[in-house]
Amino acid sequence: MRQIIAGNWKMFGQLSGVTAYAEAIRTAPPHVDVIICPPFTLLDRFATALHGSPVALGAQDCHATTQGAHTGDISAPQIAETGAKYVILGHSERRADHGETNADVHAKTLAALAAGLIPIVCVGETEAQRDAGEAEHVVRTQLTHSLPENFAGVVAYEPVWAIGTGRTPTESDVTAMHAAIRAALVAQLGSAGKTTAILYGGSVKPNNAASLLSLPEVGGALVGGASLKPEDLLAIAAAAPQD
Ligand code: PGA
Repeated sequence: MRQIIAGNWKMFGQLSGVTAYAEAIRTAPPHVDVIICPPFTLLDRFATALHGSPVALGAQDCHATTQGAHTGDISAPQIAETGAKYVILGHSERRADHGETNADVHAKTLAALAAGLIPIVCVGETEAQRDAGEAEHVVRTQLTHSLPENFAGVVAYEPVWAIGTGRTPTESDVTAMHAAIRAALVAQLGSAGKTTAILYGGSVKPNNAASLLSLPEVGGALVGGASLKPEDLLAIAAAAPQD
């Protein structure tokens, strides 16, 4: 399967930087699917700047309903209207900062699917949970309760302690977790779970991308900090193995 390299800009970036970034990222290698997930305010400008390029757009969250009295929220249809095709859901920063539960992520995932968006659902353990030997159990529980039975999207495994820290799990820990996630997806979704892309996220950089992306069941990367520089995201994309 083609690998997916998704850039999560988080709460960084301004309108003034969009055109130059989009011009640079258009040169992404054709053997990977590149997705840029900027803040909501940049989606429309990015859609124009990336017009005609294979680089896709995504948002970083959506509300579970299509419209209503929800000050400050954005719905999945509103995101789809910008031209975005993907939406990141259940990122650990949203789970921590906004108290999002697996049930919230489940409802948002249903809303994204109903709007024709491809959800990128994030799971991952904290450092304390890993130290306690609970990492796989935690991730399995997140999957069970976050993914609806009609799930058609992408899963991102992001150990919370690896996000923005420069630390990554060992290759054998990534391999073991991705195998556990694959088994859980097949148990939960049947044959659809065999082909669900499982991204790794957490301190992916140009210098560690080739080894992380070559591990079994790693179908790409969700990249935070390094996605802000197009040259770094391009280097990560170039490091992804061919089909
Ligand atoms: P990072 O973030 O690459 O800066 O560690 C990853 C993420 O949070 O998606």
